[in-house]
Amino acid sequence: MSSAKPDLFRDLDPGPRLLMGPGPVDVYPRVLRAMSAPMLGQFDPEFTTYMNETMALYRQVYRTENEWTFLVNGTARAGIEACLGSLVSDGDKVLVPMFGRFGHLLAEICQRVGGEVVSIEAEWGNVFQLDQIAEAIKAHRPKVVAMVHGDTSTTTAQPLEDLGEVCHTNDALLYVDATATLGGMPVNTDEWQLDAVSAGLQKCMSGPPGSSPVSLSARAVEKISKRKHIEGGIQPENYVAADGSAIVSNYLDLGMLMDYWGPKRLNHHTESTSMLYAARECARVVLAEGLEQGFVRHATASEALRAGLQAMGLQLFGDPSHRMANVTGVYIPSACGNGEKIRAEMLNDFGIEIGTSFGHLAGKIWRIGTMGHVCRKPNILRCLNALEAVLRRNGYEAPVNAGVDAAYEVYG
Ligand SMILES: Cc1ncc(COP(=O)(O)O)c(C=O)c1O
Repeated sequence: MSSAKPDLFRDLDPGPRLLMGPGPVDVYPRVLRAMSAPMLGQFDPEFTTYMNETMALYRQVYRTENEWTFLVNGTARAGIEACLGSLVSDGDKVLVPMFGRFGHLLAEICQRVGGEVVSIEAEWGNVFQLDQIAEAIKAHRPKVVAMVHGDTSTTTAQPLEDLGEVCHTNDALLYVDATATLGGMPVNTDEWQLDAVSAGLQKCMSGPPGSSPVSLSARAVEKISKRKHIEGGIQPENYVAADGSAIVSNYLDLGMLMDYWGPKRLNHHTESTSMLYAARECARVVLAEGLEQGFVRHATASEALRAGLQAMGLQLFGDPSHRMANVTGVYIPSACGNGEKIRAEMLNDFGIEIGTSFGHLAGKIWRIGTMGHVCRKPNILRCLNALEAVLRRNGYEAPVNAGVDAAYEVYG
């Protein structure tokens, strides 16, 4: 046996950062503290009370009366897969209106669970008119329509007000990915008649990635119940599986997850205790501020950032009337090549992270997030100040102080 000491590497000591990309963002300190609370057993009445409270809190965040509003363990993608994998059966037609990278993700997930996917595409930076989606629904008669609310890849948000009604008139269920909007823009689950909606914590909820709050309408629950299969070893007496096909994933089976979160407390996974503490605290922080106040804070910060960027002579990306309230796309000036040197200097010299882009927007736009805990005046001013300095060192002559002054003006 070797007597060499194991290499333990250095202590974990992440450098100070201001995370102004499209997520993750800096975690609200109270949420970090909640995560260090002691473990409880998963059936300890104290813990199941926290589970119930978390459900009640997320009903408020999602603006819903939906009983089945709970957490899926895993990042936002786990919530998406749980919803789509539970709603879409083999051979089901699914319509995916795509206006960015995450629309492609929804289509890919639906395909993997056997859905027959039909997609329509809007040019990146734009969104759909309701009529365009309605026509596609009438033409293809999908069982499920799957749509992103705010697509961080293009920084635009799809209006959803009347889409649920159109879906229901045509016997389709509506799934919405609200990962990047929950807490930063209204997500009116009941008013907009969303059947399944999911999100993450690491954006406007000011939490860490790793838990995905979901909410399901009665229509969605009915569909999932028809596919109800309980795994062996925990089946109750006289158990009979539902007629519908079993949901492909065991871990992300919303039918079994409902039994775990509901009064039956039928064992499934071990709930991620610390992530539940985090999710619960995130919702408390967001609700204590007030949802509407939070939306105004996000919208104002974005307005100030955009005013600052434009005053520096930079050009914003995307349809101005459908920009998200929490992430801004800005064209990289030609003097700055693909923009990576600027991002590196922002990070190394100022400790500020701004985002790169995907697909054909890579090297063309930066994405600057104003999400959650990060979304406040001092951070907007710091970011603009740093960007001006870094741009100037790299050959782009931004007018002196114009960015910060314009942002100040928005804040009054
Ligand atoms: C709109 C949207 N959907 C889904 C995701 C995937 O989230 P996660 O990385 O937490 O799985 C993201 C992440 O950026 C996103 O912005």
